[in-house]
Amino acid sequence: MNVLLAGGAGYIGSHTCVELIEAGHTVVIADNFANSCPEAVRRVEEITGASIPLYEADVCDRAATEKIFSENQIDAVIHFAGLKAVGESVEKPLLYYRNNIDSTLTLLETMEKFGVNNFIFSSSATVYGTPEEVPLVETMPTGSPTNPYGWTKLMMEQILTDTAHARPDMSIVILRYFNPIGAHESGRIGEDPNGIPNNLMPYITQVAAGRLPQLGVFGDDYPTHDGTGVRDYIHVVDLAKGHVKALDYAGDHKGVEIVNLGTGTGYSVLDIVKAFERVNHIEIPYVIKPRRAGDIAECYADASKAARVLGWKAEKNLDDMCYDSWNWQSKNVNGYK
Ligand code: NAD
Ligand code: WQD
Repeated sequence: MNVLLAGGAGYIGSHTCVELIEAGHTVVIADNFANSCPEAVRRVEEITGASIPLYEADVCDRAATEKIFSENQIDAVIHFAGLKAVGESVEKPLLYYRNNIDSTLTLLETMEKFGVNNFIFSSSATVYGTPEEVPLVETMPTGSPTNPYGWTKLMMEQILTDTAHARPDMSIVILRYFNPIGAHESGRIGEDPNGIPNNLMPYITQVAAGRLPQLGVFGDDYPTHDGTGVRDYIHVVDLAKGHVKALDYAGDHKGVEIVNLGTGTGYSVLDIVKAFERVNHIEIPYVIKPRRAGDIAECYADASKAARVLGWKAEKNLDDMCYDSWNWQSKNVNGYK
């Protein structure tokens, strides 16, 4: 298929681009570089040997989006183009609602106009809110997200579900990602957050690189095996391969499917720190800090639906994730800059 990747220059989009091309698909990327840069796409071209049409475009902009569809025969859209900083979404809720929801509406309307029926959406485990039990199964109730970012994901899931019901010719796969970390094994593409990282693994790699003095561990009094928060960390290359499977599935089915993309295993903050130290032979100094507002104790997936419906299962382990995260950061101390 020829696949439009909206937000394809970003962390997950760039890795998905590599896997799609290696699976025999062709891609077109649209990105406004709000949180990425063209260098990431250049490096995807370097890894794959493919030439990738790249549009600097805001997919909330209808004319710019229609231009892409009129210049390319698009068979499917994967929509990564969202703002994702939880804290910023609390400060600037309208920016998040406008960008994340408008981009989705504009893409769906343009797809309808051009007769494109396959849509894959980047949702998040954040839609489960504060879980009553783990592992999280797709049929469990979605919660009250603790921030506007999470609400945008939940609202877009509703928009997509309603759209699929109204348009029986469409195939929509909603992927609920757990915690993506790691990088492509080449070390040429990876996660490159702006400013001080909010997420655990980029923070650890920046401590390892000497860019930050120490890690703050947010709380050691959770009801978990060592008191620190437990998450389902998934290698970004496994996650990327999940999109290839979702695309295959969309090509053969109609309607809407919601699928968790996680490993099914939870690791604590200190499990991650210890694994990173062991695999990379680098000490990560840390201090215990108070709990971070909005955090939950435990979050990990029941990954069985992805195996059953998509024929997908994560293959990489925690050591791979720690090794590849550091391989990327150590070769690119200042990211793509
Ligand atoms: P990212 O910020 O690296 O990638 C998003 C890309 O979208 C960026 O390149 C950004 O410039 C682009 N973008 C944003 N708004 C745009 C717009 N209006 N028009 C065109 N481009 C636009 O983030 P990521 O980690 O690759 O995440 C991709 C998607 O997955 C996002 O929707 C995010 O919410 C979702 N997600 C991410 C995680 C995670 O932990 N990384 C977890 C769950 C869900
Ligand atoms: C993981 C664990 C922290 C940083 C977020 C979003 C979620 C999704 C993925 C997009 C927690 C602890 C972290 C630090 C720490 N994104 N931690 N020190 O919060 O599970 O999920 O990213 O959809 O919506 O909320 O990920 O990496 O921030 O935190 O101790 O400096 O690491 O408390 O237990 P989180 P995270």
